[in-house]
Amino acid sequence: MIQHYDVAAVRKAFPAVDQIVYLDSGFQTPLSRPVKEAYERFLREGFETAGPKQIWLKRLEETRAKVATFLGVKSHEIAFTKNTSESMNIAANALPLGAGDKVLMIYGDHPNNAYAFLNLQKKGVEIVFIPMTDVVDAESFRSHIDDRTRAISMSHVTFHAGHRFDVESVGELCAQHSLYFVVDAMQGIGVVPIDAKAMKATFIGSGTHKGLLVPQGLGLLYWDAARVELEPAYLAAASLAEPPQDFIARPDDMALPATACRFELGNFNLPAVQGLGAAIDFINAIGIENVQRHCFDLGDYLIERLDQLYVGLVGPRDRQHRAPHIYVIALPAADWLDYFTQNGIRVSPERDGIRVSFGMFNTTADIDRLIEAIRARNVPSVQTRTAVLSKLG
Ligand SMILES: Cc1ncc(COP(=O)(O)O)c(C=O)c1O
Repeated sequence: MIQHYDVAAVRKAFPAVDQIVYLDSGFQTPLSRPVKEAYERFLREGFETAGPKQIWLKRLEETRAKVATFLGVKSHEIAFTKNTSESMNIAANALPLGAGDKVLMIYGDHPNNAYAFLNLQKKGVEIVFIPMTDVVDAESFRSHIDDRTRAISMSHVTFHAGHRFDVESVGELCAQHSLYFVVDAMQGIGVVPIDAKAMKATFIGSGTHKGLLVPQGLGLLYWDAARVELEPAYLAAASLAEPPQDFIARPDDMALPATACRFELGNFNLPAVQGLGAAIDFINAIGIENVQRHCFDLGDYLIERLDQLYVGLVGPRDRQHRAPHIYVIALPAADWLDYFTQNGIRVSPERDGIRVSFGMFNTTADIDRLIEAIRARNVPSVQTRTAVLSKLG
């Protein structure tokens, strides 16, 4: 396989992946040295000096700028949140939607996006689910748009089958019909390059605990700053243009800033923000395009070996429609998950099989271990599946 970067050196930054075969970055990242060091610096400073908060806040702004560059937007278009769910709820509740308005979503898309919008039903908003197919693009939505449709919300990459949907074409469709466009980028971010402006998204929400290499508890929200009409459902001093210096809240000082800070509430997850700054530096040093290429190559290698075993893949096979790093193998999770765990292989159970998800540190040797484990357990369930799959062509 072509070496797009020094994978062996990168792998050394993730010591956990030498203890187990880690094929589960779609669940959570193993901790890397640069991120651990950023947390350690935070802990040391808090421990020894009781916390230089001004310095931590300065680093937060530096990290905000790094996130913005990473997504191709301006710093003032990025807010820090707790996770994807919070970002999607902030977005859903900021849209000026009321009784009779429609939002289009994809059936079976991640529930943390879907519930944020389903909750708007209590305001009389109608949520319409279009079918989930291997390819979702502008054409998938077009015929469902009518004069009540106001927004589309969808995942960029699906967690359960590794689709990479054509969000750019859906964003263009939204622009043509003056619809708001909200994207859940959690599963792709950090591996699939994101150009928020090319997506023409109104909001993009994500957590940071997968491709962005940070432990759980930090999220991001991109907001198109041209959409000044979008206001937060919740408010705190941090959300205001001019928080009161004397800390006395008054009803006449509630103007919102022209920045995404309008969506921020109170204190931040400062250690995680510092971890994120270190993670983005780490990814940039490798080059996200290289991470993507490496994962695609690993995916090709995996698919070829699954084919040799006549074991099927759930979701799209071709690079145009699949995510580089997420592959669901058609082996029932109820039969296979414990077996993989017992063999030191970490994967995730999904609705249609076993999910294998790559990080920047994975190698073909990890895949060989997985394939060997499948081959070693040549049980009827594989053979039966094989027979069924071959009949399906
Ligand atoms: C597409 C998608 N959205 C959201 C989440 C998680 O949401 P949260 O960050 O709120 O835990 C996941 C996976 O954990 C996901 O795959």
